[in-house]
Amino acid sequence: MFNKLRLGKNRNNTSTLRNKIDDIKKSPIPEHVAIIMDGNGRWAKKRALPRIAGHHEGMKVVRKTTKLASELGIKTLTLYAFSTENWKRPKNEVEYIMSLPDEFLGTFLPDLIKENVQVKMMGYKNQLPVHTLRAIEKAIEDTKNNDGLVLNFALNYGSRAEILDGVKQVLNDSKSGKLKETDLDEKVFSSYLMTADFTDPDLLIRTSGEIRLSNFMLWQLAYSEFWFTDVLWPDFNEEHLLEAIETFQKRQRRFGGI
Ligand code: IPE
Ligand code: IPE
Ligand code: MG
Repeated sequence: MFNKLRLGKNRNNTSTLRNKIDDIKKSPIPEHVAIIMDGNGRWAKKRALPRIAGHHEGMKVVRKTTKLASELGIKTLTLYAFSTENWKRPKNEVEYIMSLPDEFLGTFLPDLIKENVQVKMMGYKNQLPVHTLRAIEKAIEDTKNNDGLVLNFALNYGSRAEILDGVKQVLNDSKSGKLKETDLDEKVFSSYLMTADFTDPDLLIRTSGEIRLSNFMLWQLAYSEFWFTDVLWPDFNEEHLLEAIETFQKRQRRFGGI
């Protein structure tokens, strides 16, 4: 399938990439990869372009990354697209970012359907513009019978709010008798989070050189492997994702054991 996709700029690049993919597939692939897609603004600034040009370029990288994730057999790809704190940005930037799901899904949804991708979203839907939500809900609906890669957009997502809402729900269920205190353990609490249907990320990637989580999946990343790169998100390519996975494959995960 991958040979049919335009990967590198020339044939040589494509075959090197093909070989790398085949090599990497010989070792265990992380089941859930989460990415903090950062650096769009700086990418644009470096080119004397408006910040939104960086977001537009970043959208194309989402498409490429999804294709490769599918090809590698990654089960879930969670992409941090907009945080609960990103509303602090100038109105025109926020509006532009909120138009990207319409554009992305308007362009690529037919391909995602064909490629057996399931689109999902985690985050607070209430504050999203109607057109944004409509585009996402259509994609979720149209791909709900697919069983390939889960492409999970974290949109208007914030981990502290998510945890706090989980706690509130636990208190409600406890009051109503639905949940007994003695039954509440880590697994049960996880089911109160927006990631209830997913396993925890095995690998977290953050681009742009920032070494922080910015309120992303604080509970779920407890034992994930982290991979940081200075590459800005619009420059992130297949080679980088493969490098991250290769590094992951060399790590020894101990989960507190020896
Ligand atoms: C990440 O890129 C995209 C979003 C947060 C929506 P940024 O827009 O944060 O880019 P920088 O960090 O300013 O370069
Ligand atoms: C994190 O990036 C959010 C997303 C990538 C969507 P930010 O650019 O908002 O993070 P900070 O403000 O630098 O921590
Ligand atoms: Mg940023």
